[in-house]
Amino acid sequence: MVANSTDLVSKLRTTLGKMEVALGAITEAIAWTDELGRVQWSNTAFDHLIAKNRFDILGTKLINLLPLIQNGEPVSVATHPVTMAFKRQRDSTACYEFRQDNTTLVIEISCTCIHLKDADNGVVVAIRNITQRQQAEALSKRHQEQLQDLVEERTATLSFINNQLQQEVCDRQYTEAVLRESEAKNRALAEAATLQAQQLSQTLLELKQTQTQLVQSAKMSSLGQMVAGIAHEINNPVNFIYGNLTYTDQYTQNLLALLQLYQQAYPQPNSKITEFSEAIELDFLINDLPRILASMQIGAERIREIVLSLRTFARLDEAERKAVDIHAGIDSTLLILENRLKSKGRDPEITVVKKYGELPEVECYASQLNQVFMNVLSNAIDALEEQPEPRVITIKTSAVSSTAAPDKTQPLGDQSDRVIIQIHDNGPGIPEAVQAKLFEPFFTTKPTQQGTGLGLAISYQIIVDKHKGTLRCTSAPEQGTEFWIEIPLQDVAADA
Ligand SMILES: Nc1ncnc2c1ncn2[C@@H]1O[C@H](COP(=O)(O)OP(=O)(O)OP(=O)(O)O)[C@@H](O)[C@H]1O
Ligand SMILES: [Mg+2]
Repeated sequence: MVANSTDLVSKLRTTLGKMEVALGAITEAIAWTDELGRVQWSNTAFDHLIAKNRFDILGTKLINLLPLIQNGEPVSVATHPVTMAFKRQRDSTACYEFRQDNTTLVIEISCTCIHLKDADNGVVVAIRNITQRQQAEALSKRHQEQLQDLVEERTATLSFINNQLQQEVCDRQYTEAVLRESEAKNRALAEAATLQAQQLSQTLLELKQTQTQLVQSAKMSSLGQMVAGIAHEINNPVNFIYGNLTYTDQYTQNLLALLQLYQQAYPQPNSKITEFSEAIELDFLINDLPRILASMQIGAERIREIVLSLRTFARLDEAERKAVDIHAGIDSTLLILENRLKSKGRDPEITVVKKYGELPEVECYASQLNQVFMNVLSNAIDALEEQPEPRVITIKTSAVSSTAAPDKTQPLGDQSDRVIIQIHDNGPGIPEAVQAKLFEPFFTTKPTQQGTGLGLAISYQIIVDKHKGTLRCTSAPEQGTEFWIEIPLQDVAADA
């Protein structure tokens, strides 16, 4: 037993020694007090912290050894963690400041009230120097704050720049919108200006057309007046001549019969009569006189025909629509153009082939229609100039129905509601480019003196606008040209 207790004591001593060494080796400052708060034991770290040697420490009150500061104020005895540990008799851990020489340390104090069996109460104080940690934390906090400041500053700068950019974007968008708007306005203005210019040029064209139409119709009307005047003036004397020719013929025949009777009764006349008979070539005269009279009659009839045609052409009395014979209109026009159809110099004659169908009378503005025939036929004659033989103009007429007949060109008698006049020439034809412009006013391929370029434009107006008909041209180079004139028998617009 003795040996055993000695062993135990020695083991205890060894263990205590080890613990002493271990506690002395750790970096935490550790001390414990008796129930009066006097230090009973401390480790090396504690001695270093307090900066006193162990002899001064042991037996001294811990509160005196460890004056603490919290929030800049010295900690009172009553609130000292050691007192608190005794009072509460339980653990308390808190952070304080502690002045060591000239430096202020930040320490974390953990006080534990211990109750040992068969011994007085005491307090174990464990102190950890967290100055560096605190400093690092403060530094880190400062850095963090600086970082935060920097971030905030940068954020502010960025947001300022962003705002500026947004403002710039807004400004640009606004400028763009303004530009777009002004562009649109400019475009609209340009369009309006173009439209106005177009309208103006259209008005100018219309004015020109109206002017030329007025000039044309004035010309036509004065030509018509002149033609009608001449026709009227010629008509009376021609009728006078024509009417007396029958009597002249009769009287001549009677006189010749009487002469024959004289010759039979006096076969040997005296020398005076014989001489005179020979001087006047009586035999030839007797033969020739009836022929002269016959040709005079033909001539007079021709003059009557011409007068009639001139009146038909002029139709001055017919400013209103009137039912007329189309063929008579064409014929009178041809008669006026006859001089141009004859052979001249080396130019051979132009043959006119008439393929007239059966036409009812057509309700129309006769003199205007004659003007169309005049224009189209004049163009055909112009086209045949310097063309080799045969030089032919073919005029074909027909009455058609727009509803009934499958073959439009067949005569239809009473069913027909339109007439077609086809005027063809075997001239050089019209190139496609020219065909497209044919009916444009002032379009001409002829020299200035020769053509105004109005003939077909006016004809188009007369046929299409005035008579609600159709005027078109078909032509191929070397195959001649055909103008197709189609007009309703009655005024469609008026009927409607
Ligand atoms: N039968 C045709 N053959 C060939 N070309 C034609 C014929 N008819 C018309 N043209 C062409 O059409 C153009 C226009 O004809 P339009 O009758 O309108 O004017 P123009 O004959 O030149 O002048 P204007 O008739 O005013 O004296 C002519 O210049 C000519 O080139
Ligand atoms: Mg012409």
